[in-house]
Amino acid sequence: MKIRVINGPNLNMLGIREPGIYGKQSYEGLCDMIREHCAQKGIEVELLQSNNEGDLVDYIQQAYGNADGIVINPGAYTHTSIAILDAAKAVSIPMIEVHISDVDSREDFRKTSYIRAACVKTISGHGLNGYIEAIDYLAG
Ligand code: DQA
Repeated sequence: MKIRVINGPNLNMLGIREPGIYGKQSYEGLCDMIREHCAQKGIEVELLQSNNEGDLVDYIQQAYGNADGIVINPGAYTHTSIAILDAAKAVSIPMIEVHISDVDSREDFRKTSYIRAACVKTISGHGLNGYIEAIDYLAG
């Protein structure tokens, strides 16, 4: 099983950005945690992050024929990007939307998710563990 984990804007700032909301773990720490978990489960994993919307579209398109599942936290593009939704629909690879924080209990603008319509599941507010839950769901 091959899974692609895609993180969007500002998630490279984990540990620095709003630690009260996103925690103290760095992006590298998150990647290490995911790599370790996938190694234990015999899952091949690719980790990608970009602050640019078009790169996220490219990462989804490149998964076509190359990944069995996608875990994506599109960051703020969750709430704005039809391009990312269209890319997800184009490849039709099982995809899970992950948010570290509970987006539904924050500002109203965070309650809208364009990507959700193309996802088999949304995990929100489970901290970094949400990525692990998403991987296990796809693997199961
Ligand atoms: C986020 C929630 C988004 O609203 C925000 O813009 C992010 C991170 C989360 O993981 O909780 O950048 O996706």
